[in-house]
Amino acid sequence: MSHPTTMRRVAAIAAASLVAVALSLPAAQAGSRHHTLRSEAPRDLEVGSAVWGQRDLLGYDRRPPTQFQRILGAEFSSLTPENDMKWAEVHPEPDVYDFSGADAVMAFAKANRQEVRGHTLLWHSQNPQWVIDASATWTCEDARDVLEEHIRTVVGRYAGEIYEWDVANEIFQDEWDTGGVMLRTEANPFLKACAEDPVALIGDAFRWTHEADPEAVLFLNDYNAEGINTKTDAYYALAQELLADGVPLSGFGAQGHLSLQYGFDESMQANFERFAALGLKVAVTEADVRMPLDANGEPTAEQIALQAERYDAMLQACVNVAACTSFTVWGFDDARSWVPGVFPEGYATIMTEDFVKKPAYDALLETLTDATPGRAPRTPPGHHHHH
Ligand code: XIL
Repeated sequence: MSHPTTMRRVAAIAAASLVAVALSLPAAQAGSRHHTLRSEAPRDLEVGSAVWGQRDLLGYDRRPPTQFQRILGAEFSSLTPENDMKWAEVHPEPDVYDFSGADAVMAFAKANRQEVRGHTLLWHSQNPQWVIDASATWTCEDARDVLEEHIRTVVGRYAGEIYEWDVANEIFQDEWDTGGVMLRTEANPFLKACAEDPVALIGDAFRWTHEADPEAVLFLNDYNAEGINTKTDAYYALAQELLADGVPLSGFGAQGHLSLQYGFDESMQANFERFAALGLKVAVTEADVRMPLDANGEPTAEQIALQAERYDAMLQACVNVAACTSFTVWGFDDARSWVPGVFPEGYATIMTEDFVKKPAYDALLETLTDATPGRAPRTPPGHHHHH
């Protein structure tokens, strides 16, 4: 597919090569095949992907890696275990931990000089059956003991090796849920057992994580948390309350699961800026942009272009806020995307199932290339591509 953006990029790469030759930079820096998302990113911004270690990294052998593994290592400077550090995977029975998938992610990251985002410690979903069963009769003290032991064990195992942890995930409902925006004191078994003072439990989850790994940046993380809305207003109030209590909260993550069925909230950068003003890091933690497909399962040209714009808008919101430490896509190829299994939509990632780069990939690469090391974009926002 030939479109103006590609042509402009080809021209830009050719020009960059001439400059590189003139300055006699090493060939590796000038060659276009070395331009990857991670190589173009500002030094203070990690570009990541989710990866399911249990499915795609067990038995990793770098000589040779699979095509998927080669791209994962080449394009990304950060990995998030898509499922491998969730309760159901890592803690399947009360006295049984299974770190096989998580260890595979850590080993791959080490071999490819990548950072790891931990995900996640306090969530209402993907809890093991034993937690669901036991929680029926938990007192708050019981819930606290179980959560503390889990956090100390899992976080402690990888202490010093994880740069960011999603400590609390999706702890607020949305305004369209029954009861409106409120802490998930029904669906989350830990918050339910401690419904009298859920904020105290959330604060202690951050404290236990911080004690187990003092270096990690500790995040609140949620979907529908990109723009300024009633849900992120609740997070903003909670963040202030936790910080006032001395809780080691240090990050706010917007998952970035978008659908072309809905509009894009242009207040994303302003939302990041208000959390950054509290002293927090911010991050885009799970970006993907899904869409309803036609009867053949194909997107339209308009959808493909709009997807690129949406991915790029999220990246720009991050690049333009110095406190934004990481931009992570929730898988990079359609074959491994969680979207078709959950939504009647697809085409959500930046590469096709055959690893063909979509315009969304090109847009991200261009924005990363344009971002100076100090982050201010060289081209003013809006004066860009895909219009
Ligand atoms: C998803 C995974 O991608 C799937 O493989 C799994 O079956 C369900 O969970 N928000 C989150 C992620 O925080 O953990 C979810 O990941 C996607 C939504």
